[in-house]
Amino acid sequence: MKKLLTALLLVIAFCPLSYSAISMTPYLQALSSNSVFVCVECSTADTVTVNYGTTTGFGLSSKSLFIVPTSGGSTFIHKINLINLTANTVYYYQAVQGPSTSTTTSFRSGVLQGTGFRFCVMGDCRSNPTTHGQIGAAMLGMNPLFSIYTGDYCIDDSYSSWKSQYFVPDELNFISKVPFFGTSGNHENWGPNNQAFFFSPPSTSGTPDYYSFDMGDVHFVSINNSVSYTVGGAQYNWVMNDLSATTKRWKIVYFHEPAYSSGGHGSNTTMQSWYSNIFIPKGVDMVFCGHNHFYQHCISGNLRQFVIGGGGASLYVPTSSSFVVKSAQSYCYGVFDVTSAAIHMTIYSNTNSVVDTLTWSKPLGIHGTENSGITSFGLYQNYPNPFNPSTRIKFDVPPGNSSNVNVAVYDISGKTVATLVNEKLNGGTYEVSFDGSRFSSGTYFCKLTADNFSDVKKITLIK
Ligand SMILES: [Fe+2]
Ligand SMILES: [Fe+2]
Repeated sequence: MKKLLTALLLVIAFCPLSYSAISMTPYLQALSSNSVFVCVECSTADTVTVNYGTTTGFGLSSKSLFIVPTSGGSTFIHKINLINLTANTVYYYQAVQGPSTSTTTSFRSGVLQGTGFRFCVMGDCRSNPTTHGQIGAAMLGMNPLFSIYTGDYCIDDSYSSWKSQYFVPDELNFISKVPFFGTSGNHENWGPNNQAFFFSPPSTSGTPDYYSFDMGDVHFVSINNSVSYTVGGAQYNWVMNDLSATTKRWKIVYFHEPAYSSGGHGSNTTMQSWYSNIFIPKGVDMVFCGHNHFYQHCISGNLRQFVIGGGGASLYVPTSSSFVVKSAQSYCYGVFDVTSAAIHMTIYSNTNSVVDTLTWSKPLGIHGTENSGITSFGLYQNYPNPFNPSTRIKFDVPPGNSSNVNVAVYDISGKTVATLVNEKLNGGTYEVSFDGSRFSSGTYFCKLTADNFSDVKKITLIK
């Protein structure tokens, strides 16, 4: 009996039921200017440590914050929050579980307001790992800060589908360096594996089902077509309030099923109500969708919507309609370069030929930004200066302002050549553009007048 017990103990000691091991390349989620989440799939729920820092010597570390089991995979997704990041900075990271260590990889932290950035958009990569891999590699070559995926990652929510259709080597290589934000498609649905693999950034929605986040001068809203999105429902009301509250320069919304599209599954009429009731009144600048496997630019009520559903699933045939501006039956992804003044879009095929380009500008008019440190009126030197043909002029308005704010440009004789602002403004930092293309080279003066305050800056137009 004693021999038998000893033998059993030896078996238990040398044949543990499960080993701690990282079973997939770690990848990145929920990027912000000071934080990111690393998702690490492991064979056990034993704590994962991620070492990180601005050099490969690391210096910082975080441990598993959330551990979510996959369904049918006998694995666990560890979600580790890397905090206290400096904005727009390259960090290196490495995950460790027991004796298992990932390769060291790097990413760039998110940017603050006023800093431009690049992001990619892709959707419907299911059922075609080869083309999906091509697009993953192509997006990595574009060096974006992050990407947005509009759903239908794989044919269904089974563990094997996620592994064989979504987590293909080129996608994993990409998302280990470039975080992605997602929304659910009708194929994988908002199922247990979808929820295990993703980490939605915490937001005022209070649910991972749908969320918003800020990056630079953009407010992004992710809407989920796999949970209730009825007009007047919880998700609808939250998006209405969320878009009302943001003060960001640009507002971008994404979800799976396009409100306007011609060909494939066509249009989603419920989302058309969201358009007219929320997106247009709240000043949304552009909308990204998938679901239809092609590229299509549609416009309704001056709001542009892009179907970028060519991530790999077999292509549908786009058709024409009054709201269609341009279509292409092409595998595709989008690259968007954002500054406070403009967004430039290029749609590429999976072999990197250009499918479409477009630029939005907000060079005129004013936009306010949050700035809690303001105590008085202020006028900044224009940038660039000298300039040709346009320049940007920033100024501060103190909290509680009740007076009219006037910003105007004068020529050397004192004649007003342009009034840029003439209205009562709430407290904040504002920026206006002055377009000098109609004027001749020379010295001009920009003057801010408000209450008992006035200040003048000399500005120089050189053609
Ligand atoms: Fe779909
Ligand atoms: Fe699809």
